[in-house]
Amino acid sequence: MKVFGIETSCDETAIALVKGEDEGISVELSKIFSQIETHEEFGGVVPEVAARIHLEKLLPMIAKYIPRDGAGVDAIAVTAGPGLSPALRTGVETAKTLAWLWKKPLVPVSHLEGHIYANWLAENGEQHGSVTENSAPELPALCLIVSGGHTELIVMTDHGTFERIGETLDDAAGEAFDKVANMLELGYPGGPKIEILAKDGKLDAFDFPRGLLDRPDFNFSFSGVKTSVLYTLRKHEERLRDDQFKEDIAASFQEAVVDVLVQKTLHAAEEVGPKSIILAGGVAANKPLRERLQSSFKEIGVPVFVPPFRYSLDNAAMIAAAGYFRAQDAENFTDPLTLKADSNLDF
Ligand code: KG4
Ligand code: ZN
Repeated sequence: MKVFGIETSCDETAIALVKGEDEGISVELSKIFSQIETHEEFGGVVPEVAARIHLEKLLPMIAKYIPRDGAGVDAIAVTAGPGLSPALRTGVETAKTLAWLWKKPLVPVSHLEGHIYANWLAENGEQHGSVTENSAPELPALCLIVSGGHTELIVMTDHGTFERIGETLDDAAGEAFDKVANMLELGYPGGPKIEILAKDGKLDAFDFPRGLLDRPDFNFSFSGVKTSVLYTLRKHEERLRDDQFKEDIAASFQEAVVDVLVQKTLHAAEEVGPKSIILAGGVAANKPLRERLQSSFKEIGVPVFVPPFRYSLDNAAMIAAAGYFRAQDAENFTDPLTLKADSNLDF
């Protein structure tokens, strides 16, 4: 079964075609147009601008790579939420129109679920990914979703069955990275820039707070560490042009965030007893986080799955992969005339 996927929840216009079989999933096509250059000027994503660019880019992209009559496509998957409403709507309306024209089943997908399914897209060769059943994460899995809008711990008991056991009470981890990068005048998006700057910094130069680590629940809080960085910068204003100082701030901040994410996931795993750990969302591109999660669980003997780098950030292959599993049950098909984007969609 071939599933065509569309993703427009934020600032990437993306399409993909994946092939799902009993043996697993392979990516036949994955195209992403990143709008970062445009939004960089504004210091963050402007929803109406994102939507306008999706409208300009999406249809020509589809026309270039997919036959006009939809030949070879068995189902269409689209991100229906969560995300920026005007941006989401462009993808959803396009998917509805194609499903209606091509007479193919339409499957709405949660962006969060999509990020989780990026772990079913193994890195294999330059262009394409494929994963066999044997190398896919075993369920139940404990998923740590860390993106620009979400930081959550989710138990995935089966395909399509998710239970949230923890979430951030304020900022998402990616949001904290972006805000601290802003304070350090690094530009948008901040996560990758902090990671690069942190490479030459001292992890323990500053003792930034580890939010809610002393609490037994699985919720997160990153506003404390963000504020603490702000106060430290204000206190040492004269050192803002000092590279070593900025590197130390970046390294200590990243260390505090990674520490909390890994410790909370370890605690949650003790209670849940998962067969695998799944890392998902844009912050999953962060190498120190990937490595620390993997080394911490190695001691316990639970395998950790991290998405291939190219499918860590927003893309449509992960949406099509989630759509493939959803499409196994016709109950998940939606009427192409009535589907609505939902910026607060859960799973
Ligand atoms: O999943 P994503 O592409 O979009 C959302 O669904 O939000 O995640 C984007 C977030 C941004 O906050 C970005 O700064 C962060 O992921 N991010 C990173 C890294 N790459 C992207 N954070 C830390 N380290 C990275 N290497
Ligand atoms: Zn995302």
